[in-house]
Amino acid sequence: MNDLLPSVWELKEADRDFPLRDFAPEGAPLEIEIGCGNGRFLAANAAKRPDVRFIGVERMIDRLRKCSRKARQGALHNLLFVRVEAGRFVRELLPDACCQALYLFFPDPWPKRRHHKNRFFRQPMCDTLARILTPGGRFFLSTDHEDYYLEIYRWLSADPRFEEIPPLVRPEDEQTDFERLFLAKGDPIHDCAFRLRGPDAH
Ligand SMILES: C[S@@+](CC[C@H](N)C(=O)[O-])C[C@H]1O[C@@H](n2cnc3c(N)ncnc32)[C@H](O)[C@@H]1O
Repeated sequence: MNDLLPSVWELKEADRDFPLRDFAPEGAPLEIEIGCGNGRFLAANAAKRPDVRFIGVERMIDRLRKCSRKARQGALHNLLFVRVEAGRFVRELLPDACCQALYLFFPDPWPKRRHHKNRFFRQPMCDTLARILTPGGRFFLSTDHEDYYLEIYRWLSADPRFEEIPPLVRPEDEQTDFERLFLAKGDPIHDCAFRLRGPDAH
């Protein structure tokens, strides 16, 4: 792992460990955004909630440059970006019960059926979510792609480990760049959210 840019760590394929606790000590609240793009949502949240650690996962270097700039300009020491393949990050590099919220906004939809294997969220992701979220931890999804939305919604709503909760309503300063593009075009946006039930849930 190396420091690619200020506030950006890069994980190489050979890296087998992610030093999460160097950034987010055990017990500190942690929230993670997958495919965070230019980091608009995270930068706004990190400024408003300094007691929470935020991690943005992104692979595109141009977007990470913008993320790094936002963290630097806002002196946001509770905000870290990681350059890594997001599926591997959540499946293999995050410890159990480590995060209070996972955000997935406008993931690449890979609309052709033969490309669905490239989607970040496939059914086994329900198991990964149940593993990495703390009890009561929340998952938030927004997408313009109805089929992808319905697929994820059906999996999570049929899974007794999760319960549906109201979706996130983001003020303007927390809207992502893709969200603003779709809103400007008047395209429908599909949102849902789920909470991981605690051990005493029935
Ligand atoms: C459609 S864009 C949405 C960006 C941002 N969430 C937004 O709403 O503005 C999808 C983002 O996810 C990133 N991404 C897609 N697949 C990824 C993967 N497997 N690992 C890391 N980042 C990924 C892309 O580079 C891109 O920035």
